[in-house]
Amino acid sequence: ATQTATPATPNGAPDALGAADRAKFAASWRSVGFVEDGMKVGLGTGSTAAWMVKCLGLRVRREGLKIVGVPTSSRTAALAREVGIEVTSLDQAGWLDLTIDGADEFDPAFRLIKGGGGAHLREKIVAAASDRMVVIADPDKDVATLGAFPLPVEVIPFGMDATRRLVERALADLDVDQRRTVFRPAGEGLFVTDEGNHTLDLHLGRIGDPEALSQALNAIPGVVENGLFMDICDAVVIGREDGHVVTR
Ligand code: 5RP
Repeated sequence: ATQTATPATPNGAPDALGAADRAKFAASWRSVGFVEDGMKVGLGTGSTAAWMVKCLGLRVRREGLKIVGVPTSSRTAALAREVGIEVTSLDQAGWLDLTIDGADEFDPAFRLIKGGGGAHLREKIVAAASDRMVVIADPDKDVATLGAFPLPVEVIPFGMDATRRLVERALADLDVDQRRTVFRPAGEGLFVTDEGNHTLDLHLGRIGDPEALSQALNAIPGVVENGLFMDICDAVVIGREDGHVVTR
């Protein structure tokens, strides 16, 4: 519920916010400082990215900042319009100057796990079509080794159980010890992505070789895209509950 509130001040989170939202707001407000007039900006998905979209909307309304946003999900598109950001598709925009998005984990090499919000397919396409990707996060997402957060894999509904078996076989071939796979539930059924697919969450504990795992997963026919982002993120903006922000 706190996510619907527009920041009351540009320089600090309103006192009424909870600790988690103060951290998200702090990172978000700092990140929208990278946005300049005339830019085409990829807009991420998730609770942190929602704060960023609200902060960007504030700059559009207060400063008359002229930008166009490319949302990575239907949720983000709706929010962007609501806060006054002009929205277009990636095909219309062609190429983007900057994408700002959240992440579930990032490691020292700026490798990411994304897709906790179920939008990693569009997020990866949008980030890859951007000159720069800036990640906004709180300190809990800063990890030495990826994998404590379950790795999302977007899977086509046709033959999804066979695809899952192939994913499990690929994990075994890579000697991944812990390899529980769960189709993400939603309500009475399964979570459905904006592309009409399902999400298979891989509970792996740790990912020793993200590059090898990503390649193996994406080689499976029913897999559309996995949530490992490598060589895409250029900077991470980390916001803390006390409003302190560090950019790496
Ligand atoms: C959505 C994502 C999100 O960026 C990620 O899940 C982080 O979300 P939040 O900011 O709510 O923690 O990848 O697909």
